[in-house]
Amino acid sequence: MGQDPEVMEFFPNFWSEEKSRDAVVNIRKHFAENGFVLFAAELKENHEFIGFVGLAHLTFEAHFTPAIEIGWRLVSKHFGKGYATEAARDVLRFAFEELRLKELVAITIPDNKPSRNIMKKIGMKHDEEGDFLHPKLPQDHKFARHVLYRIKNF
Ligand SMILES: CC(C)(COP(=O)(O)OP(=O)(O)OC[C@H]1O[C@@H](n2cnc3c(N)ncnc32)[C@H](O)[C@@H]1OP(=O)(O)O)[C@@H](O)C(=O)NCCC(=O)NCCS
Repeated sequence: MGQDPEVMEFFPNFWSEEKSRDAVVNIRKHFAENGFVLFAAELKENHEFIGFVGLAHLTFEAHFTPAIEIGWRLVSKHFGKGYATEAARDVLRFAFEELRLKELVAITIPDNKPSRNIMKKIGMKHDEEGDFLHPKLPQDHKFARHVLYRIKNF
């Protein structure tokens, strides 16, 4: 996934194998510490791995942090089948009904329409005044500007 141009279209760099391995270590640690994470997503019928959809503490400082994000990334052959939104709805229910989290955020660059589409479909609202420059990127980087979406528990 980390080296597929379709998957990484809106990210500044591909992920090396080492970065992907580090991500797995961090994901396991995050799950052990918090009881939630960017969960592996699989097909119900045959358990094929199709990407990740889940929750994570944001690891940078911005005007809206500390915050927990809901995020998604699929293997490209599984784009356009509704899987990411189906999984995101389930993660949202888990976050609000079982974990009783108060609020989730989602972030992406403005051009990432498929991701923003999921945010809208699961009921998140664009906080236009909250849009920001990602602090981990040079401020003039073409991917620096990010949109902020939020959803509150009721
Ligand atoms: C963002 C990403 C997860 C979106 O995946 P996706 O498959 O387009 O998302 P969805 O699950 O919402 O499916 C979208 C389409 O599947 C289609 N679809 C096909 N069968 C369907 C079904 N049974 N039910 C629902 N939708 C279905 C729908 O037309 C839907 O599009 P629409 O809502 O415009 O009608 C994917 O593009 C991705 O992994 N991108 C790379 C990583 C990335 O950018 N992540 C986000 C970083 S912030």
